[in-house]
Amino acid sequence: MKFFIDTADVEEIRKLAKTGMVDGVTTNPTLIAKSGRKIMDVIAEICDVVPGPISAEVTATETEGMLKEGRKLAAIAKNVAVKLPLTVDGLTACKTLRDAGTMVNVTLCFSAAQALLAAKAGATFISPFVGRLDDIGQDGMELISDICQIYSQYPELETEVLVASVRHPVHVVQAAKMGAHVATLPPAILRQMYNHPLTDKGLAAFLADWAKTGQSIL
Ligand code: G3P
Repeated sequence: MKFFIDTADVEEIRKLAKTGMVDGVTTNPTLIAKSGRKIMDVIAEICDVVPGPISAEVTATETEGMLKEGRKLAAIAKNVAVKLPLTVDGLTACKTLRDAGTMVNVTLCFSAAQALLAAKAGATFISPFVGRLDDIGQDGMELISDICQIYSQYPELETEVLVASVRHPVHVVQAAKMGAHVATLPPAILRQMYNHPLTDKGLAAFLADWAKTGQSIL
């Protein structure tokens, strides 16, 4: 399973990239706004730090505008994946950009029917938002299960399931059990995944016992 980082904070990305766990990055207009920086500069910098797919989202709402913005974003670097919303215009633009060889991440997916359309439009990634479904009392992970099951019926579909709006490590584990290809994680959740109280307790006990021996490995 691939891990993308869901942030436009380049310093965070640099730190996490050193762990060897980061396969790509996703951004959206909210994350770019939070960075306080120009989208073209941030995306270019992220593309230099992480060689995997870097999602950069358009803000136009009509196909022609999406194509213009998408082409400009895609020209930043070879690893840009243009992020398009799951609308008729977005999926029309998706088909055109994919035919030209550009990676596309179709975002704001909230139903299996939408995911099926995105796959037919040739999306490289489909981004179902699990946390936002949970927030309105629906089961976000059930959607991931449905999409994985549907895509697996059609081996010719190459669209990867990119689990987005992840709120906690259990979402990631459940997504992995369902066979989702990618999860995009806020930095805090990737860090949280390392933690277990028994790891901390066990390490403290090992170090205490080691100290009693008076030995040193180096
Ligand atoms: O980038 C898309 C998605 O991961 C957003 O998550 O937390 O704003 O629902 P969130």
